[in-house]
Amino acid sequence: MKKAKTLTSNEKRYIFTEGIDYLSSGKPSIWGEGDKETLEVMRKTEFNGKWMNLAAGDGRYNNFLLEKASAVVATDLDPGALEKLRANTPDNLKKKLKTKVFNILDPLPFKSKFFDGVFSTGTLHLFPKEKLTKIFKEIDRVIKPKGNVFIDFATDIKRILPSGKLKNKENETSYTIKEAKELLKKLLPNYSLKMVESEVPEEIVKIGKLQYTFGCKFLLVLANKDS
Ligand SMILES: C[S@@+](CC[C@H](N)C(=O)[O-])C[C@H]1O[C@@H](n2cnc3c(N)ncnc32)[C@H](O)[C@@H]1O
Repeated sequence: MKKAKTLTSNEKRYIFTEGIDYLSSGKPSIWGEGDKETLEVMRKTEFNGKWMNLAAGDGRYNNFLLEKASAVVATDLDPGALEKLRANTPDNLKKKLKTKVFNILDPLPFKSKFFDGVFSTGTLHLFPKEKLTKIFKEIDRVIKPKGNVFIDFATDIKRILPSGKLKNKENETSYTIKEAKELLKKLLPNYSLKMVESEVPEEIVKIGKLQYTFGCKFLLVLANKDS
């Protein structure tokens, strides 16, 4: 396997990459095994047809998606994350996987109505409203009529360093559950929405040399496009 370069973050420009060499980060996802409730809802959800995993990272949920969907395009700005995702994909699922590197703030490099669904976790909450408006317009453009969206949206985030200080990302927007609900309804106007409220219990996150305690609430959003 080739050694991927690290991709330094540029939070002022909404590039919230981790700046690590994913291929030296061990086999498990740097984000852990996946949230219990998210996995539970994924088990009950049909992921038919072709899905995009937007900002898939090193693929904590990608194999679950691949097992159900007929094809998955896993995307991220960090090529190292996608290399690790591919390396962690079982051989029998690799034929259904494509990967694509791009910035979520650029027009999505797919033709309109290309996907049956768009999946995204752990990422969209980082962006301010005006950026989300652009991102969701693009998500909507690439989804077929009657297609689906499955996203999570973290709120009330706490990252506490061992010193007790808060570790906020520069330029990160912070939403409450109420704000997030209202915003997501506006961002997905032509979708039937189901929102599930949940919480990530405080956990230690280690990314390279950085370590902090992380906790948040989050919304799981299952949306079906009207037409
Ligand atoms: C918190 S991780 C979540 C990864 C994965 N979805 C998961 O739930 O495990 C956020 C991901 O967004 C990617 N990312 C950050 N800024 C981005 C941008 N501007 N465009 C595309 N991807 C970006 C990072 O590289 C990282 O993989």
